[in-house]
Amino acid sequence: MPELKAAAIVLAAGKGTRMKSNLPKVMHRIGGRSLIGHVLDCLAPLGLARIVVVIAPDMDSVEKEVAPHGVAFQAEQLGTGHAVGCARDALKDFSGDVLVVYGDTPFVATATLQRMFDRRKAPDNPAIVVLGMRPTDPSGYGRLVLGPDGMLDRIVEHKDANETERAIGLANSGVMAIDGSVAWKLIERLDNRNAKGEFYLTDIVAFAREDGRRCAVVEAPHEELLGVNSRTELAAAEAMFQARRRLAAMENGATLTDPASVFFAADTKVGRDVVIGPNVQFGLGVEIGDEVEIRAFCHIEGATIASGAIIGPFARLRPGSTIGAGAHVGNFVEIKATDLGAGAKANHLTYLGDTTVGAKSNIGAGTITCNYDGFNKSRTTIGSGAFIGSDTALIAPVTVGDGAIVAAGSVITHDVPPDALAVARGEQVDKPGWATKFRAKQKSKKKD
Ligand code: UD1
Ligand code: CA
Repeated sequence: MPELKAAAIVLAAGKGTRMKSNLPKVMHRIGGRSLIGHVLDCLAPLGLARIVVVIAPDMDSVEKEVAPHGVAFQAEQLGTGHAVGCARDALKDFSGDVLVVYGDTPFVATATLQRMFDRRKAPDNPAIVVLGMRPTDPSGYGRLVLGPDGMLDRIVEHKDANETERAIGLANSGVMAIDGSVAWKLIERLDNRNAKGEFYLTDIVAFAREDGRRCAVVEAPHEELLGVNSRTELAAAEAMFQARRRLAAMENGATLTDPASVFFAADTKVGRDVVIGPNVQFGLGVEIGDEVEIRAFCHIEGATIASGAIIGPFARLRPGSTIGAGAHVGNFVEIKATDLGAGAKANHLTYLGDTTVGAKSNIGAGTITCNYDGFNKSRTTIGSGAFIGSDTALIAPVTVGDGAIVAAGSVITHDVPPDALAVARGEQVDKPGWATKFRAKQKSKKKD
C-alpha cells in the first residue's frame, strides 16, 4: 500500500472499569497479543505517517507495549473528543488526515480503513468519513443520522437520542477519518452540554455540516467492530478470533482433526499439509513448516518447526527452540532454547534446555540436560549422529562429539570425544546364590 499522508490516533485512556482488573483494558490479550497490539497490527500495513496512542498517565505498561509509537496523556476521561484533543501536541507538526480508532476494538480490518481513506479522497471531498455498522441491537451506540442524499448529517449518542433516532439501525463504530486541514478547528468547538457531560468526538460531524462540508459513511460488519468491555466480551472475542484462525489454517491447507480444540496465537504461521491433532495450544512466535505433524496435547510457543517434523503427542516446545526437518519430538518431552538437528529424535520423557543437537542424533528416553546450577544456565552441545543412552544426565556446560555413544544411565560431567563411548555409572556386581541365601535366612528368623 502507498505511503499515506495520514496519522492515526488510538484512544485507550478509558479505565475499562467493567474488566475489574489491575491491568489497563487494552493490555488484555486475545491469541496471546494485547488488544492494543491487535489494533497496531491492523494499522501497520496502511503506511501511516504517525501513530499516537492516547492513554491515562498511570498506564506505563501500555506505553511500553506500543513503543516505538508515541503516547499522549489524558489525565481525566472527559470524553472521546477531549481524548483526541490530547493528541494535538504530539501531531502539531503534522497536517495530513487524522484517523481515529479505539484501542479496545481489536478486529477492525486494514481493508476497511483503506476503504475509509479511499472515500475521503473521492471527488466530493467529505470532511469526515465515519465507519458505521448495523448491530442486531444498536442500543447504547451513537446513531448515524443520514440526510435525504444518503450522506451523514450528524451523530446522536444513545443517551441524547429521541425515539425516532433510537429506531435508526445504523450505529457509530467510533472509527473516523478526518480531513487534517479542519480536524483541530472542529475539535476546538466541542462542548460537554449533553446527557453524559462529556466532550463527544461525534459532534464534529454537525460542525462540519454547518461549515458546508459533506460527511460520509462507510459500513463494515458488526463482528469486525466488536469492542471489549468485560471479561465475557473478552472471551467472546477470543472465541471469534480462534474460529477465524482455525478456518484460515484449514483454508491454507492444514488438517485440523478437531478444530475447536486447537488454539492459535495472533502470529502463528502454519504451512501446507500440516496435520494438527486435538488439544493443541500455540503461544506467540510459532512457525510451522510444510508437512509437519503435531499430535494431540502439545503446548508450543516461540518455536520454529521445519518441514516433515513430528511433534507429540504430549510434547512441550518452549521459546527459542528450532526443530529441524524430519526431526521427532515424542511424548513427555520438554524442549527450551534448543536446536534439534534435522532427523534427530527425542522421543520419550526428556528435557533438553539450552542445547544444540546435531543432525540424526538419538536422544534416549529419560535424558536430562542439567542446564541450571541454581545460579547460571549453561549449554549442552551434542554433535551429529550421536547416541545418548536412556536415563543420561548431561551436566552442562558439556559437549558430546559427533558419532559418540553415551551408555544408558550415565552422568556425563566432561566432554565426550567424537566417536567415543562414554560410560559413567557404577559397575554392576553379581553375587551368585546371594538371593537364595537371603530368603532362607529371613524364613528361619520368622519361625523363631
Ligand atoms: C463511543 C461513541 C459512540 C459509539 C461507541 C462505539 C462518542 C461520544 N461516542 O461511545 O457513538 O457508538 O463509542 O463503541 O464518541 N476514551 C478515552 N478517553 C475518554 C473517553 C473514551 O480514551 O475520555 C476511549 C476509550 O478508552 C475507548 C474509546 O475511547 O477506547 C470509546 O470510549 P467509550 O467510553 O467506550 O465510548 P462510548 O461512550 O461507548
Ligand atoms: Ca465502549
